[in-house]
Amino acid sequence: MTSVVLIAEELAPSAIDVLAYDYDVRQVDGTDRAALLAQVGQADALIVRSATQVDAEVLAAGETLRVVARAGVGLDNVDVRAATARGVLVVNAPTSNIVSAAEQAIALLLAVARHTATASATLKSGRWQRSRYVGVEVQGKTVGVVGLGRIGVLFAQRMAAFGTRLIAYDPYIQPARAAQLGVRLVGLDELLRESDFVSVHLPRTPETVGLIGEKELALVKPGVRIVNAARGGLVDEDALAAALRDGRVAGAGLDVFVTEPITESPLFGFDNVVVTPHLGASTAEAQDKAGLSVARSVKLALDGEFVPDA
Ligand code: NAD
Ligand code: MLT
Repeated sequence: MTSVVLIAEELAPSAIDVLAYDYDVRQVDGTDRAALLAQVGQADALIVRSATQVDAEVLAAGETLRVVARAGVGLDNVDVRAATARGVLVVNAPTSNIVSAAEQAIALLLAVARHTATASATLKSGRWQRSRYVGVEVQGKTVGVVGLGRIGVLFAQRMAAFGTRLIAYDPYIQPARAAQLGVRLVGLDELLRESDFVSVHLPRTPETVGLIGEKELALVKPGVRIVNAARGGLVDEDALAAALRDGRVAGAGLDVFVTEPITESPLFGFDNVVVTPHLGASTAEAQDKAGLSVARSVKLALDGEFVPDA
């Protein structure tokens, strides 16, 4: 019998074509819980991005599931432990979108430094306001990278070309590795005290949620600009709003939110906050790479072959 591959979120057409060659490919809106629970029961493989919660209930409903594939990096929406307990393999595409995510963080950082999004919106609404949008240069500034993993490194390498001084907080990285990259490892408090820009590149885990909260935002260098293109909640949203309100934080660039999708937030009310709807991986290149990577892994898993790290 042909195996069923259930795709619960948008996947690159090239990957769907590859899968449709061998499998019965079906699609469902993974955010429609009832539809997902109804359809996952017939699936051998389930493919998701970040919006579908693959929790114990979905895994229990997926009685025939053999593999869950995450077409992207973060696995925080997949209960890996529950999947493993049921003998369901979990795969992701850990390098597919890292360049895109790093570029998105840089785009947000520059947009915050130069008021790009707000100035564009006001000009399009008929107001020519040059004096209102005086920004800051990035050159010569200290940039603090929180999480010096794959994306943090790509971000740091690119920011080095802007003539910045780079420091990072990541207790799991060897100082020698950071030094090789021209980055000085520091504690989180020191990073917050010294940075003109802070960019967060962490996974969402119980340890990292709220890592930058009220206490940490009280330590920042006044006028810091903060970017989060990793996961909602790493920078506490209420604490960030309070720090923006009292002017300690001069601006923020946010691609991710505690609740997604989101269309209303106190953070949207600030002129100096640039927001995007979780677009870090939304490039043609990243989506092709993620789609093809998970298509390959799903095929290997359904064929009973070893699935190497992508
Ligand atoms: P990675 O695993 O390569 O790097 C994460 C780094 O965080 C590691 O070096 C790790 O040591 C460090 N870390 C973990 N816990 C820490 C802690 N408590 N304090 C400080 N450092 C800690 O992952 P990556 O590929 O760089 O991706 C990072 C995250 O970015 C992903 O988990 C995902 O959530 C997010 N992401 C977002 C988008 C987007 O569309 N916005 C795209 C891709 C990835
Ligand atoms: C990821 O973790 O890869 C990102 O959230 C991007 C995505 O899922 O599309």
